Amino acid sequence: MGEKIVIIDFGSQYTQLIGRRIRELRHYAEIYPFYEAEKVLAGADVAAIKGIILSGGPNSVYDQGAPVIPKNLLNRNIPVLGICYGLQLISHLSGGRVEPAEHREYGRAELRIRKKTALLDGMSAGSVVWMSHGDKVSRLPKDFEVLAVTQSSPFAAIGNIKKKIFGVQFHPEVQHTKEGKILLKNFAEKICGMKPTWTMKNFAREKIREIREITGNERVLLGLSGGVDSTVTAKLLHDAIGDRLSCVYVDTGLMRLNETHAVTERFRRTMGIHLHVVQAEKVFLTALEGVTDPEQKRKIIGRLFLEEFRKKALELGHHEFLAQGTLYTDVIESVSVKGPSQTIKSHHNRVKEVLELMKAGRVIEPLRELFKDEVRRLGLTLKIPREALFRHPFPGPGLAIRILGEVTRERVQLLQKADAILLEELKHKKLYSRIWQAFAVFLPIQSVGVMGDQRTYENVIALRMVESLDGMTADFARVPHDFLGHISNRIINEVRGVNRVVYDISSKPPATIEWE
Ligand code: XMP
Repeated sequence: MGEKIVIIDFGSQYTQLIGRRIRELRHYAEIYPFYEAEKVLAGADVAAIKGIILSGGPNSVYDQGAPVIPKNLLNRNIPVLGICYGLQLISHLSGGRVEPAEHREYGRAELRIRKKTALLDGMSAGSVVWMSHGDKVSRLPKDFEVLAVTQSSPFAAIGNIKKKIFGVQFHPEVQHTKEGKILLKNFAEKICGMKPTWTMKNFAREKIREIREITGNERVLLGLSGGVDSTVTAKLLHDAIGDRLSCVYVDTGLMRLNETHAVTERFRRTMGIHLHVVQAEKVFLTALEGVTDPEQKRKIIGRLFLEEFRKKALELGHHEFLAQGTLYTDVIESVSVKGPSQTIKSHHNRVKEVLELMKAGRVIEPLRELFKDEVRRLGLTLKIPREALFRHPFPGPGLAIRILGEVTRERVQLLQKADAILLEELKHKKLYSRIWQAFAVFLPIQSVGVMGDQRTYENVIALRMVESLDGMTADFARVPHDFLGHISNRIINEVRGVNRVVYDISSKPPATIEWE
């Protein structure tokens, strides 16, 4: 894959950001956990690796079991930049001393440049940098010199200029470090000698080439949900290997109104991809009969989904590869808490289990290095229609967790209609793309109403519309009252069995986005 920077992850919450910044600078970067560093540098395309960045991390280098890389990886004639823990590790491996700081240094500091070098070229005197560390270097390793200091860090930036090994105590990847991108650009271009030529188009082209190379003449199986990630994965694979890709879509009967038809048509018409649809509504609804506990619902749906997928896969014949639309954030979730090794292991275990079930040999995850917004941009490059790329998130268990209490066919149908009205109005009023997620919830409570001269005793629909950046925290959307009134009217008039609509005005936390 052209020339690249390899980022070695030691578990910092900012590792993904480093990759992102490098790509924003139009260079290509790949992230690997620290225990794969040796393997990556022994790999066939090592010549493409123009630089290595060692990330930060929550450990101390002198901790028992602290994440390390073999010392000789610093002697490969490839420039290295260590960030925070990365700097401490370089010092530790090169014979310097690292010790706990008396005070944890957290927050802003001003950088004073002590030596003019390519790494800090163009950064201003007093440039604001962001610190977050408990340990500090107390003695420099041999052949290293101080490049910059801050008031409390005499070794804020260090380097062995001859060997092109550098370390910074601060975090150049975070937004608070005002000129951090200048430093990263200097590293990539002035030190590693890379040219800023990388674009999403290159990525698509290279990925397609890579997919062809990896899969050879084998077939690939992909489970498709119709969401953004699986759609982009499907298009990329289809562009690469055409009909050697089989896409399986399981209709659980718990999707939005007309979803299956819309997805299959979109794939057929705009992408020329045929989907193998498993109609399994009956199976799911029967298994969910009488079940009210949300965890129980999730388990049943997860198990049935795999069973149905597997049956179809076996029917379609042997597939050597199982494709997944995994993003980087799915692989290493909450890395700062658990550390990379633990999380990656559990992900791999899950993948292994699925592979065994599918009787597939290997897994292929073409979006593994990307962030959600980058996946969307890749999708645009691949000419996937916008409406498929900018959809609201939809949970795997579908409407089953938006129907409180028992899931029945009648309730699913009722909720689908209410939900469709909400989405239609949001799109009509051009509010859809301003909202992170919007949906209707079925509440199994009946309340009194009056329609004409008749008293009614019917169900309640709750509307949920939230604004969020990542789904981790959220607040209710401040949509106009008239708009809410209009939706309420339409739902009560058009959806039989509903006589009351309420709007959820709780934030997450303490509430969640879904009601379950
Ligand atoms: P909560 O309800 O935890 O949801 O605030 C956060 C985000 O995750 C989505 N979500 C799910 N997505 N499978 C999924 O694929 C699930 O089981 C699931 N549960 C919640 C939710 O829609 C929101 O975007």
